[in-house]
Amino acid sequence: MDEGVIDFLVIGSGVAGLRAAIELAPYGNVLIVTKDVPTESSTEYAQGGIAVALSEDDEVGIHFEDTLRAGDGLCREEAVRVLVEEGPQRIKELISWGAAFDREGRELAFAREAAHTKDRILHAHGDSTGREIERALLNQVRKLSSVKKYPFAFTIDLIVSGDECIGAHILREGKVTSLFAKATILATGGAGQIYERTTNPEVATGDGMAIAFRAGAVLEDMEFVQFHPTSLYVQGAPQFLLSEAMRGEGALLRNVNGELFMERYHPLAELAPRDVVSRAIISEMVKTGSSHVYLDLTHLNKDFVRMRFPRINATCKIYHIDIAEDLIPVSPAAHYVMGGVKTDLNGATDICRLYAAGEVACTGVHGANRLASNSLLEGLVFGARAGIAASQHRQQSLEIRKKMILATVRPATAINGPDGGTGEIRALLRSLMWQKVGIIRCLESLSAARERLSLWLPYVDGICLKRQEQELKNMVTVAYLITEAATARKGSIGAHYRSDFPGHGKDWKRHTLSTRDTALRGA
Ligand code: SIN
Repeated sequence: MDEGVIDFLVIGSGVAGLRAAIELAPYGNVLIVTKDVPTESSTEYAQGGIAVALSEDDEVGIHFEDTLRAGDGLCREEAVRVLVEEGPQRIKELISWGAAFDREGRELAFAREAAHTKDRILHAHGDSTGREIERALLNQVRKLSSVKKYPFAFTIDLIVSGDECIGAHILREGKVTSLFAKATILATGGAGQIYERTTNPEVATGDGMAIAFRAGAVLEDMEFVQFHPTSLYVQGAPQFLLSEAMRGEGALLRNVNGELFMERYHPLAELAPRDVVSRAIISEMVKTGSSHVYLDLTHLNKDFVRMRFPRINATCKIYHIDIAEDLIPVSPAAHYVMGGVKTDLNGATDICRLYAAGEVACTGVHGANRLASNSLLEGLVFGARAGIAASQHRQQSLEIRKKMILATVRPATAINGPDGGTGEIRALLRSLMWQKVGIIRCLESLSAARERLSLWLPYVDGICLKRQEQELKNMVTVAYLITEAATARKGSIGAHYRSDFPGHGKDWKRHTLSTRDTALRGA
């Protein structure tokens, strides 16, 4: 693609990006830029489901309360209200576009997951909910002639002129192109890859958070990273997610000695909030000197288990585990970043014409801890809202600014840190974050992480002409932002646990803001 002006630029092709593109399509040409193939996103891997108050014995008010409780005092109530109230309509729309959620007879089947007080999780093909949603949205997008996809195109940086975002510099096949747009929507997903153990796909390197930060946007609540309690722990196997829905259906956790332990940690046992379950597992691992615990479904009906979780069953089989017959070795893994680019209820960031939706954004819906299966719903609801809001820029011309900007692409630099090449730094970074800024943090561990990360900060400057280098630059940036925010938060709230400050702390209800001026000092 040559340098040029389009109407709307959408960066990322998961649920939020696709949903935004559908809203934008009637108002001009829309380009969806993805660094890989369009299906490679966290949405595609989401198993458990999508939460929505649509069953007969549920109410949006109960979904609202459950979401607030999980968020541990830091949810933005007006955002949660939008989520739960607009959710049902967005799901019905998705069904009308062909999304086939599982049913019992003719009725939608609702499952239970941790911290929900009602059965309200829709799922598809048992444990392939995200894939089904992605399929339905991509089908819908294919019908829209004004929407084009641009795969294998890595967004290096946003183009900002004055206080406005007017497009992005894109790297493809070693060449940098500048794309100018009347409005840009970031929908790049999360940053799980900065941790050694993660359920996220390889593309989740925090790109959107890092480029928004470099552009001058405000990021919020970056210390809140959710760790999923159960990812597969087998040498040589991928850190595959074992859906919370398994515990929702009655799966139990046992330590390596075969003992049930969750009742000792929380009255809800296996259905306690994720942060509680993750810390309980770590505690049992330490006590027993083991690297994992077990997920046990052997007491459940075997045909039901295999039918309800076909994708998990097929993956575990590759590693000679029968999920209905065997104990499954699991340990926690980084799963979801609650913080992100600060937005209002319409996805608007602090930079004019720049919007963000999905995991890259912080709408305030999740507070300090996301309620299970609320993220796909957030992508749908706030992706649509961001698309509607961004479409308001359709009348605005960019010609003059385009001319001003054309010459400003910065020269390429290579990352070659003192510890070696990008692969080596990436591995060191991931291990550092897992050990020092993981499930349990303290001043000592955070200080050690900051010291190490600051050695790599010089390499976050400049543009790199390889995807891996640019990803590393973004990973270092996001890792630093998480570490800074985690250091600043002197209290334990939701998913952020400080062993040196186990209480909520006096600044409990305050949000943490990161900006170019306050973070990365000394870079
Ligand atoms: C899961 O299936 O356990 C993941 C669902 C979620 O993270 O919302």
